Amino acid sequence: MHLDETEKRMLAGKNGKACELSMNILCELGELFGAERMIAVSQVHIDMTLYMVDAGVEFVEKMAKLGGKFAIPTQLNPASIDLLHHEKMRVPEDLLESSRRLESAYLKMGATPTWTCAPYQQGLIPSFGEQIAWGESNAVAFVNSVIGARTERYADLTDVCAAITGTVPELGLHITENRKAEILLEVKDFSVHAFDDFRIYPLLGFIFGEIAGDKVAAIQGIPQKVSMDNLKSFSAAAASSGAVGLFHIIGVTPEAPDIKTCFRNRKPKETFVITPEMIDSAESRLNQDTCSMPDLITMGCPHYSVDEFRTLEKYLDSRKIKSGLEFWVFTSRQTYGQIKKMRLLETIEQSGVKVFTDGCSLQYPKKSWDFTCAMSDSVKYANYCFSQTGLDVIFSGTRDCVETAVTGELVREPIWK
Ligand code: F3S
Repeated sequence: MHLDETEKRMLAGKNGKACELSMNILCELGELFGAERMIAVSQVHIDMTLYMVDAGVEFVEKMAKLGGKFAIPTQLNPASIDLLHHEKMRVPEDLLESSRRLESAYLKMGATPTWTCAPYQQGLIPSFGEQIAWGESNAVAFVNSVIGARTERYADLTDVCAAITGTVPELGLHITENRKAEILLEVKDFSVHAFDDFRIYPLLGFIFGEIAGDKVAAIQGIPQKVSMDNLKSFSAAAASSGAVGLFHIIGVTPEAPDIKTCFRNRKPKETFVITPEMIDSAESRLNQDTCSMPDLITMGCPHYSVDEFRTLEKYLDSRKIKSGLEFWVFTSRQTYGQIKKMRLLETIEQSGVKVFTDGCSLQYPKKSWDFTCAMSDSVKYANYCFSQTGLDVIFSGTRDCVETAVTGELVREPIWK
C-alpha cells in the first residue's frame, strides 16, 4: 500500500506506541483486502463496548496505557449494562467492574460517552458522502444507506485503531464503484394497507438480509412515505439476517432516486420477488410456538427514539403493566434526558415500565433474572434472542407488546399484507 509521509511516521512509531500498533493493524487489513492507500475519516463509532471476554478489555486498556488518544471525534456503542441505573438492572459486581474498566479506558482516550446503538438519532451525525469508520451492524447499514455517508462494516477493535490514527484503508463501501446495486428485490402483491402496519418494515428487512447476504441490493415497491424509525427497523433487521452494509430503497434512499441511478445504468445480475407469503414465513420463523406468554417484554433494539416513546405512551394510555411481568425499554442517555424533560418518562414509569440507558437489551445480567420467554417489537432482537439469551421469543408490534403487558394475555394481531 502506498502511505503518505504522515502515515509513514505513524507506522514508524513517531506518534507513539498505540498509534504505531493501530497503523500496523490497519495496514495489514488493507493489504489483506487489496487496498492501495489509506484515507482520512472524520469520525468513528466504536462497537467493542460490550463486555464479552477479557481479551477485549485488555486490548482497549493496553491502547490507553500506551498513550493512545483518539485523533478524531469518537462515540460509543452500548455497554453491556445500564451504567447509570445498574441497581435497577441487578448488575452483579464482576460485570459492573468489567464494564467500568472499558468505560475508563475509552474515556481516557477521549471518547464521547454516547453508549448508544442508534448514533444516527443524535450527536455526531455525518453528512452525505462523508468518509467515516463505524462499527455496529444496524448503524453501519443505516448511515451508509439512509444518510449516504461512507463506511465499511468495521470489526471490533479495528474501529479503535481507526479512532487513534484517523485513517482507514480505502476499500469496500468507501469506494463509489462498490456502492452500486447488484441485485434487485421487488415487493409484489401487497395490499395498499400493508405499509400502515409498521411490522412490515423490519420483516421486509429480515427477508432482504436473507436474500442479499453481503451483496449491495436494491428494493423496489416500498412507498416513499417511510419514517426514520421504519428505516431504522428495516436496517437493523437486514443487518441481522445478512451481512448488509448498504441497501438502496428505490425512490427513498439518497443513492437510489431511481433504478437506473442505483444500478449505474447496468442491469441487475439477479431479480427476486418478495411476496406476502414470505412475510408469513419470516414471521413464523421469528416466533417460537413453545412460548404461550412472555415474562419479559423488551424494546429498544436498536435504542428507542423520542417518537417511539410517544407511541408507547399512547398505547399504554396510563394503564398498568400486569404484576409478575417485566417491561423494559433501552435508550440513549440523550433520549432519556429528552423524555424526562417532556415528562414522558414519568408517565411511562408510572405504568410500571423500566427505562434503561447505555445497555443492550440482549446483554442484561441473565443470572439475576429468571425469565423464560421474551416478547419484543424488534426483529433484530427476535432473530438473536435465543442464541444470545437462551430465552424463547415472540415478535410483534409495539401495540401487541403493550396489550400483552397490560392484559396479562398474549395478544398478536394478524399482519396486514
Ligand atoms: Fe443495540 Fe444491543 Fe440491539 S447493541 S441494536 S440493543 S443487540
